[in-house]
Amino acid sequence: MADASFRVMLGITGSIAAYKCADLVRKLRAMRNPDAPDRRVEVRAMLTDHGAQFITPVTLQTLTGFPVYQELFVSAEEWDVEHVGLADSADLLLIAPATANILAKLAIGLADDLLSSTALACTAPLLIAPAMNVHMWEHPATQANVAMLLERGAIFIGPDAGELACGYEGRGRMAPLETITAAVEAYFLHPRVEGPETVCDLRGLHVVVTAGPTREYLDPVRFLSNPSSGKMGYALAVAARRRGARVTLVSGPVNLPAPDGITTIPVVSTDEMADAALAAAVDADVVIGAAAPADFAPTERAAQKVKKAGRAGLEMQLVPTTDILATIGERKRPGQIIVAFAAESEELVTHAREKLIRKHADLIVANDITTPDAGFLADTNRALLLYPDGRSEDLPLQHKSAMADRILDAVVKLRNR
Ligand SMILES: Cc1cc2nc3c(=O)[nH]c(=O)nc-3n(C[C@H](O)[C@H](O)[C@H](O)COP(=O)(O)O)c2cc1C
Repeated sequence: MADASFRVMLGITGSIAAYKCADLVRKLRAMRNPDAPDRRVEVRAMLTDHGAQFITPVTLQTLTGFPVYQELFVSAEEWDVEHVGLADSADLLLIAPATANILAKLAIGLADDLLSSTALACTAPLLIAPAMNVHMWEHPATQANVAMLLERGAIFIGPDAGELACGYEGRGRMAPLETITAAVEAYFLHPRVEGPETVCDLRGLHVVVTAGPTREYLDPVRFLSNPSSGKMGYALAVAARRRGARVTLVSGPVNLPAPDGITTIPVVSTDEMADAALAAAVDADVVIGAAAPADFAPTERAAQKVKKAGRAGLEMQLVPTTDILATIGERKRPGQIIVAFAAESEELVTHAREKLIRKHADLIVANDITTPDAGFLADTNRALLLYPDGRSEDLPLQHKSAMADRILDAVVKLRNR
């Protein structure tokens, strides 16, 4: 089903990290959409002249199954304008690795070779994975170019910090291939065909997301918590960033890397999460409470580990913790949108509706946590969106990154009502 392919145009520039692109192509082509197994990822490679110093067109041609595009001026027999045709055919333009040079060219709109001309003609989302020496990355010129590109809606993946090929330590390593493929996967699983304006429909907004569990310690080693993985909240934060928002992610302890381009505030207890979320919410346009904060905390926390030996049992007094979203809801500014989550094991709709009202929310995402393919630990989720006016919307089982976009679609509609 060639016409159902998701077409990634991979621009490769003159960085030593270009050698990794052989593996990147394989990883991109191996991606599958469980909801549409016939829909494959088609990768076409576009090399700058300097990129071709680091990886050969033959390697890329063999791995992609397509000719490699390098020349702006093709032979006289070709009738179409290649950079425009290639730009139009792409569902996504991914530049990896991206040199300091291409960032500068993209920022000012220079179009002096095939890749920069294609980028200028391309209306598909632009994903950039920079790779360069730490001083090149930190240079004010590069940082100004990055800021300009971010402002225009480009998505940056990395760079990471670490040991660099040039012998330096610091930020400049191309992001791991898994991180790059995960960023592409979000588009592949949830393609948006409407055009770049809708992709960036949260541009200029501040979105605050809480994610993950919190911990309430009873002594230095033991705590009350829950199995929340943070995946739904992180997917929401990443999707909101991709759609142009400035995102603050207040995260409890989870095993997920801090997403690029997002201000992540790590917290442990519900009180810490409340402090950070309330402070961030002051100028937020949208607050999404996807965290599962502990609802109760021990009245006392022992300074030393409570010993088991010699005890027949242990009694503990618990007090309710701050209701973070309800507090934000009480202080809600006109126009601010609040999205709550309800993870319930019984009477889903009744409990979720009660919570929707109590939290002054505009929307609640109700999850039935008794099914194994939805809720806390799963990669997938199914939910019911409930609104204060009694409306409801069913979101069938889907990947959490796709669901994140569905929830943000609902937020955009609420803002536009
Ligand atoms: C061995 C070698 C490694 C290089 N690695 C990088 C790099 O990682 N990042 C970068 O921005 N430039 C790097 N450069 C410099 C770029 O190749 C140079 O700026 C070039 O003009 C980039 O052209 P392009 O962006 O059109 O591919 C490297 C150059 C050499 C010789």
